[in-house]
Amino acid sequence: MAIIASNFKTNHTRKSTALFINEVNDYLKSNEIKNEVYVFPTATSLDYFETVPTFFIGVQNAYATVSGSFTGEIGTSQLDEFEIKTILIGHSERRHILGETQNKIAKKYEFYKELGYKIIYCIGEPLEIKNQGLPKTLEYIYGQFDEIDTNYENLILAYEPVWAIGTGVTATNEDIENIHNAIKEKISKPLLYGGSVKVENVREICQIANVDGVLIGTASWKKEDFIQILENTK
Ligand code: G3P
Repeated sequence: MAIIASNFKTNHTRKSTALFINEVNDYLKSNEIKNEVYVFPTATSLDYFETVPTFFIGVQNAYATVSGSFTGEIGTSQLDEFEIKTILIGHSERRHILGETQNKIAKKYEFYKELGYKIIYCIGEPLEIKNQGLPKTLEYIYGQFDEIDTNYENLILAYEPVWAIGTGVTATNEDIENIHNAIKEKISKPLLYGGSVKVENVREICQIANVDGVLIGTASWKKEDFIQILENTK
């Protein structure tokens, strides 16, 4: 069994999200899929999912709060309305574009862990670190586990090298295998790969040792492509 997840990032309207969800739902109802499917839509579209039970819906981000004065953020009182219990934490774009520090990420992690959320925790190195070799890359990645309780039972990891995200450049199978083996040796949790996963390479990536599934951005935004990805990995 693999985990196949789609991260919409800042894409799709409520209407196109509903179309996407309905079609994927129809596909899953009429096909034998052994995999676990997740979709992370934008927060504005979460109410389209109240009646869709065939796969998991999560949020791409939320603040470490129930409610309060955190302009622009949402907390668990909003997530509860939609029965959302799955969250992405530590995504590269939150770390590198939106400036979330490891300390802030760890606090968010702790908050959602205490509430029993399923956490997909993202890690991955930028190009300048990758270029310094495997030991340096692993040291950097391990630093992203600072203050993170990796024994948490509802934890899924996602290794997403920053240089492979949205670039069309997928890590080589060898790179993926080396990093996944090393991470798995330390932390025995499901470990996804993300970074330019596509219709054409998803099956092969899912067959690499210690790859327990994929977290996909760009190639999962068209419903036909996501369904093809589900088909290629079923
Ligand atoms: O979270 C998924 C992601 O960051 C990978 O994006 O566009 O390279 O598939 P993409």
